[in-house]
Amino acid sequence: MHAYRAAILRFTDDGTAVYEKDGLLVTGPDATGRKVVRAVGPYEQLAPNFPGVAIEHFPGRIIAPGFIDLHIHFPQLDVIGSPAEGLLPWLENYTFPQEAKFSGEAHAQELATLFLDELARHGVTTALTFCTSHPSSVNALMAESQKRGLRMIAGKVLQDRHSPDGVRDETQQSLIDTEDLIRAWHGKDRLGYAITPRFAPSCSDAQLRGAGELAAKYPDVWIQSHVAENKDEIAWARQLFPDARSYLAVYDGYGLMRERAIYAHCIHFDDDDRRLMRSTGAAAAVSPTSNLFLGSGFFDYEGARRIGFKHGLASDVGGGTSFSPFHTMLAAYYVGREGQTKPGLSLSPQNLWWQHTAGAAQALGLEGVVGNLQPGCEADFIVLNPAATPLLARKTAQAASLDELLFSMIVLGDDRLVEKVVVS
Ligand code: GUN
Ligand code: ZN
Repeated sequence: MHAYRAAILRFTDDGTAVYEKDGLLVTGPDATGRKVVRAVGPYEQLAPNFPGVAIEHFPGRIIAPGFIDLHIHFPQLDVIGSPAEGLLPWLENYTFPQEAKFSGEAHAQELATLFLDELARHGVTTALTFCTSHPSSVNALMAESQKRGLRMIAGKVLQDRHSPDGVRDETQQSLIDTEDLIRAWHGKDRLGYAITPRFAPSCSDAQLRGAGELAAKYPDVWIQSHVAENKDEIAWARQLFPDARSYLAVYDGYGLMRERAIYAHCIHFDDDDRRLMRSTGAAAAVSPTSNLFLGSGFFDYEGARRIGFKHGLASDVGGGTSFSPFHTMLAAYYVGREGQTKPGLSLSPQNLWWQHTAGAAQALGLEGVVGNLQPGCEADFIVLNPAATPLLARKTAQAASLDELLFSMIVLGDDRLVEKVVVS
């Protein structure tokens, strides 16, 4: 067993933050040998229960759950910050050419290593990740994640039409490759597979049908895609699927909406779409830095809450501009401000943090597994130094409440806050 003493941040089941100023986190193997949280609470109260367990002390530091990124593209490291009018020219001029480079295994290996290093530097311990259409890109990321003991979920992109040479795949082979990759990686150590149609406009009817059949055959495999991100994209989807009630309904028609289905963006929704999210158990990966950078629009937090469907935070690198959960939380706060009709904070700092940890885990169907530090959770955590910069030190020292402390870190924080990352 291991024990760690510091301030500790975690969440109750209803998303309320629990903050122990002087806490103890005890980790150790469960009955199946997984390293989990065995106990957590006030140091004074808990320490006597664990005589003989050496305690690692982090004075002045905060232990918090490792962040979860609900939507990110590992092959898009070199796409970050590419100037484009909007989503569709950005895909054509920057994203597809970069992703085509992943036909080479050495390139995929190099970027998989860099990608996982960047996630760790920013305190992200689980991500739901797009690879490219090349199966070898999945193998590279999964093998590297397995080596590091990470809980990582990823999938081969499906895109058999409206895609250039170099990234376009072939319908039947893409489905065979997907099933082979599910068998090779899903449930291996901490890894999970996600069936990954890029977005409806890039997938033929046969490919979406095949993806839906695989989703039914493997119900605990994840599904990830994009929806209702950009007005031109939506008009194109309408034209390609004239019989569907909406863009989102296209996915439902192919059996691609269920628990463990995560749709990036979900910006331009009506209430019927929101109800479809709720009734199917699908979740939205809200990607505010990407939406602001590409000019896609603003996720409607009030609408999401009014109808009540699952959502959490995502970087969407390389449309997104930063790996940092602090930057993403701040951008989400701005987005909440934009659509705000009611007085108040729009999004509280506790809720922003929850959306990137326990709330994201709930969206993935992994509540109680990752994204939190309650007893039984896998022991993925980060150690934050709230005095990492002179201004952070000054500001966090003056915080008179948990909200003020969390807001100081959300607004001023970046990878410098993340001092240590511990993976179960
Ligand atoms: N829609 C289809 N592909 C992509 C992608 O790679 N990034 C974003 N943001 N939207 C997409
Ligand atoms: Zn994306």
